[in-house]
Amino acid sequence: MEPLRPELNKGDRVGLLTSGGDAPGMNAALRAAAKVGAGLGLEILGVEDGYKGLMEGRVRAISLRALDDAARRGGTLLGTARSKVFPTPEGRLRAQEAIRATRLSGLVVLGGNGSLAGAASLAGTLCHDGRELRVVGIPASIDNDIGCTALSIGVDTAMNTIVEACDRIADTALSHQRTFIIEVMGRDCGYLAMAAGIAAAADAVLFPESGKGEEAIVDQVLRAIEAAYSRQGGRRHVMVLKSEGIKMDSLRLKQAVDERIGERFPDVDTRITVLGHVVRGGSPSAFDRMLAARMGNAAVRAVHDGQTLMMAGWSQPRQSRPHSPYDPHVTMWPLDEVLAETAKLQSGASPLVRWRVEALSQAESLLYQ
Ligand code: F6P
Repeated sequence: MEPLRPELNKGDRVGLLTSGGDAPGMNAALRAAAKVGAGLGLEILGVEDGYKGLMEGRVRAISLRALDDAARRGGTLLGTARSKVFPTPEGRLRAQEAIRATRLSGLVVLGGNGSLAGAASLAGTLCHDGRELRVVGIPASIDNDIGCTALSIGVDTAMNTIVEACDRIADTALSHQRTFIIEVMGRDCGYLAMAAGIAAAADAVLFPESGKGEEAIVDQVLRAIEAAYSRQGGRRHVMVLKSEGIKMDSLRLKQAVDERIGERFPDVDTRITVLGHVVRGGSPSAFDRMLAARMGNAAVRAVHDGQTLMMAGWSQPRQSRPHSPYDPHVTMWPLDEVLAETAKLQSGASPLVRWRVEALSQAESLLYQ
């Protein structure tokens, strides 16, 4: 357990802030944090448009009724932004002044890597009454690239959206006997492509963590096509899931595949679908709503109880930290540990990433049996 500062008092103000790319389930987390916070006697306020709004002191009361409705919807009721000014020393100073001016004693920050780094940069901020600001983060990003949590809010919904899209594309792929390259979001993290690839039974999954160059990527797609076409009975439709983190442009990949496959299998017909922001929108899945509610609950209770510079994580495999007293599946992690682990996930140094790469390569070899 982290050393505790004194509990917040009744009537103390806690701001809720969403930052970076929106993620389905953010509203459900806001709803839970607002309701639990109000139940603890705190005055819960919404910060508009992420750190940009914080720097400008745009803080307002949020209606619990509006949150009830919003919890069913994707996006974020508070608005979000990717601020270039906040990470600068001047931006941070402006945010700290606004925190004092708006009399915030605590802040719950929902977002991805950049947003959590922003939360950590508020360490040592003094509030209007001289106490230290308490800041607790909640991982919310469809990319699932945040350390110390098995899942971030939004990942499950994004996965379901991708799998549904793949199923729809499979109908037309099968009817026309076509090869589809389906590109999905995830920034530099291939998790969405990998997990959706398994769930949608893709023939090949292309993700940056494999470290493959362009030639190896083209080879992988060719192997998948050849395997499908050579199978007895011939299954002449192929689905390739490609993470946007793969630096090879999808059109260039299609052209390279077409050039090389033409001689052996002249009737291969390839198409590209880029799912883009479709993957980030939509109503949150039941699981995301539940995950969001539990993280929102744990985060606002942690702020109330005097914790700071922590993140509420979800059931991290082989975790060494004790569970939070608020929920048996939620663990509270120091933000600096979260950021260090996130950097390892991004650089590929994390054992979890190595396991994912190995598991996908085993799955691929099973496909060609
Ligand atoms: O981080 C979430 C995410 O949707 C990434 O998957 C994607 O690369 C990026 O945001 C897109 O950002 P923007 O909406 O600013 O174009």
